[in-house]
Amino acid sequence: MSADWRAFDDDNAQQDDPYTAAARACDDETNTTSDALDKDFEHLSIDQHTLVNDLLDDDEYDRDDVYGGDEGNRSSEHACAYCGISNASCVAQCVKTNKWFCNGRSNGLPASCLIYHLVRSRNKEVRLHESSPLGDMLLECYVTGATNVFNLGFIPCKDENVVVLATRDAAQSNPAALKELNLDISLWEPLIQDKVFLPWLVQVPEESEILRARQVSPAKVIKLEELWKTNPEATLDDVEKQEGNEDYQPVALQYEDAYQYQNIFGPLIKLEADYDKAQRENQTKDNITIRWDVGLSKRKIAYFCFGADEEKVSVALGDSLQLRLLMQTPNGPQLWQGQGVVIKFTAQEEVGVEMYGMDAPVESSTGYSVDFLWKGTSYERAQQALKSFAVDETSCSGYIYHKLLGHEVEDQKLHVDVPKGTKLTAPGLPELNDSQFNAVKEVLERPLSLVQGPPGTGKTVTSATIVYHLAKRGNGQVIVCAPSNVAVDHLAEKIEKTGLKVVRISSRSREHLVSSVEHLTLHYQVANIGGATHKAFQKLQALKNECGELSPGDEKKYKNAQKKLERDILENADVICTTAVGAGDPRLADFRFRMVLIDESTQATEPECLIPIVMGAKHVVMVGDHRQLGPVVTCKQAHAAGLAQSLFERLIALGIKPIRLGVQYRMHPCLSDFPSNKFYEGVLSNGVSASDRTLSHVDFPWPVPSKPMMFWSQTGQEEMSASGTSFLNRAEAVAVEKCVTHLLNSGVSPEDIGVVTPYEGQRAYVVQHMTRVGVLHPQLYKDIQVASVDSFQGKEKDFIIMTCVRSNEKSGIGFLSDPRRLNVAITRARSGLIIIGNPKVLNKQLLFHDMLTHFRQKKCLVEGALGSLKQCMVALPEPAISAKDPWRRMNAQRGAKVSAEQRFVNEFPELGQAYAYGRFGGQFRDIDDSESEYSYAPESEYSYAPPSEVDYTQPPANRAYEY
Ligand SMILES: Nc1ncnc2c1ncn2[C@@H]1O[C@H](COP(=O)(O)OP(=O)(O)O)[C@@H](O)[C@H]1O
Ligand SMILES: [Mg+2]
Ligand SMILES: [Zn+2]
Repeated sequence: MSADWRAFDDDNAQQDDPYTAAARACDDETNTTSDALDKDFEHLSIDQHTLVNDLLDDDEYDRDDVYGGDEGNRSSEHACAYCGISNASCVAQCVKTNKWFCNGRSNGLPASCLIYHLVRSRNKEVRLHESSPLGDMLLECYVTGATNVFNLGFIPCKDENVVVLATRDAAQSNPAALKELNLDISLWEPLIQDKVFLPWLVQVPEESEILRARQVSPAKVIKLEELWKTNPEATLDDVEKQEGNEDYQPVALQYEDAYQYQNIFGPLIKLEADYDKAQRENQTKDNITIRWDVGLSKRKIAYFCFGADEEKVSVALGDSLQLRLLMQTPNGPQLWQGQGVVIKFTAQEEVGVEMYGMDAPVESSTGYSVDFLWKGTSYERAQQALKSFAVDETSCSGYIYHKLLGHEVEDQKLHVDVPKGTKLTAPGLPELNDSQFNAVKEVLERPLSLVQGPPGTGKTVTSATIVYHLAKRGNGQVIVCAPSNVAVDHLAEKIEKTGLKVVRISSRSREHLVSSVEHLTLHYQVANIGGATHKAFQKLQALKNECGELSPGDEKKYKNAQKKLERDILENADVICTTAVGAGDPRLADFRFRMVLIDESTQATEPECLIPIVMGAKHVVMVGDHRQLGPVVTCKQAHAAGLAQSLFERLIALGIKPIRLGVQYRMHPCLSDFPSNKFYEGVLSNGVSASDRTLSHVDFPWPVPSKPMMFWSQTGQEEMSASGTSFLNRAEAVAVEKCVTHLLNSGVSPEDIGVVTPYEGQRAYVVQHMTRVGVLHPQLYKDIQVASVDSFQGKEKDFIIMTCVRSNEKSGIGFLSDPRRLNVAITRARSGLIIIGNPKVLNKQLLFHDMLTHFRQKKCLVEGALGSLKQCMVALPEPAISAKDPWRRMNAQRGAKVSAEQRFVNEFPELGQAYAYGRFGGQFRDIDDSESEYSYAPESEYSYAPPSEVDYTQPPANRAYEY
């Protein structure tokens, strides 16, 4: 999983939708309920609502003649609230906001004004204008009455020129109603295609009209939507007025001093924190039904589902929630509220919340509200780290200080005795290969190093080995961090194998979560302390376990004893493992660590990385892979200013050469071939053989039996998902189910299959589709992990099926085109990889073109039924170089001489760009894929002037300079 650094406790965060960043696990996009069906079926009148006459041929309508275009009249009631187009036949109304929007899409937005507004505002209901072909009507499903336009589509009637509006799931929820009308559900098509309403429903304004209309940019519109939340009357003029006041300085490559550093990062963290807070607190859910249970610690556990509401809900283990209930008592209504922490998700997709307090209205089950509580801890700790870095001269050595700020300092070499012939292998870990050996040796000799390795090259094994040697040096304790809890656990497990004393600190809110390294955790070690000296504490602990609570006096005694024990255990450890944010835990407040190792550091933001470093670091090791996905930053503005760039990346940009690992132990050699060439300059070699990764009992119709890989062409169209913020592709979901069923049938167990997709909409749809259609036992399908690419980072499976989803005529392939995302997706498989997508559409992007060509050369690009696959003959012309193609940057001017600037930008697709603006005069400005998550500020904002007055060759007097 890519680390979500903001959430100390959050391993499930994922980023997947095209417009907004954060979309997390545990949401459910199914939204047809049988209740709605029974209720609404009766009162729907066919004529008025849902039958559309003669509309399949939109050429019949000549909008200006029929409807009398009144464009130009900007103040018109129904003028588009974005661009001002007021031609009545081209607009429709958002029901929630009462605002009108046009169905035009080429005025700077990646969707029509109407769709863009719905997506941004999270609204989903649309009313047509009275002069529209259908007259004034609310768009709704004929069968269920559901009104989410992202789920709505139409089915043409067989006999007449009539269509019926129905939701995507109508056939499942009421086949009888459709039969009656003689409808063929297989003809269903969505109302929104290519992010525009079908023109027979709401006309698309003429090109000339759009040109005359007000030009809007996504950035402006997003701000306008923000303003509307507090002032529904706001206009684009208000946005412009406001714009002068908010300037965020982008990150730089070098900093004059730690104050300048803090002045840039501090506001960016604040920005991200505010955004995150607003997002979370926006998520209150009402009408929740709770099933109460009593847990081991006697605490009450509330189990509930978030219902079939299609709005995204993001919850992760360790999140704090508040439950509320208005109870009717004899003395009138009384409000109960209590807080708790998410401790598990059940197989039925229930959320389990353990309550902090002991009282809970366990006799009531319905009518609860759930609020999401925001914790600012991770941001506060990042801010604190920035401050320590600036004001505390002992926060790290002078060498580290200057290196991090990008100053020129003389290289330091530490003396290490590496006896001749030693392999430096640590007890309990695999024998190091040559590149790993070199990495360990170099790291031990240098006070600051970067270790970079493609997937499965033993970064974690090497990290554990390094920690072993550092700890054995006798220079004190080592602090070992990673951005995510999963990665920390993984590393702690490996370090323990070397025989070192390891303590894993997790936040209090995670103490009740199941963990593979529970025995290493501080709370476990405290709770299970043995020995005669701790009798009093043991007694209190037993009492607490039994009753759940202690008397205030006992509680105080318990807390004191606990504190002392914690300290003893921590002081006795060789190695302390925690998330980077967890390094700021108050229990570590007066600990100092000279040696820091950060695994997966490319998934942390800079200030996050700084947290463990400013605890006295003199020897820093950062491990990661900047060719995989970076940290999660949800606020676009903060992202654009460079907060999502890791310290690791910036240090490389500053010229620190990473030590590379080059032998991978995960993938079948045929699977590592392409990523090695494309992402790792062809230097990745294989530590496993084809036979190591051939599962001979699995019978799958691979096009080339010795190569367990294929690209299976599917040409079905993409659709927007129910949330409006993501996509799905039904044809690809069908193909996924076929592959899954085949694998299961040939004896692969569900745990060994992973389905990955960039889009949350498709994730939800695939899960739903597999259990609905799959012929095997439903539990088998449920046990298959279906996840976003982002949340699969760091994981592996024997078989990976990737569904690409994007398939359209006009718009691009969105954030699927981020090369790092593709790299992560195709490097998860050990023994077999199936990619499902539309080759014709994907081929427009250079990287996909290369991948498709690779599959074709290997005779693994196929089409047809799974039982009779044939080579797919679609033409794969090399795409014209497009300004929007991010792969172009990493692969610029193939074969041509590449300038230093270009190479710089190529290497750092995101921040390289930001620097390039300032450093190289802004000549690489063309990368804004309007649909991707990243948008860049105009070039003038990136003025980078190298600091001039300070002489960095001289160490400042006040910083300790020695190791
Ligand atoms: N030198 C080695 N010899 C044999 N197996 C190794 C070696 N280094 C790593 N591995 C194995 O390769 C796999 C991936 O290692 P890991 O450290 O998790 O890689 P990364 O962190 O780079 O993804 C693990 O199963 C590990 O045991
Ligand atoms: Mg690892
Ligand atoms: Zn418009």
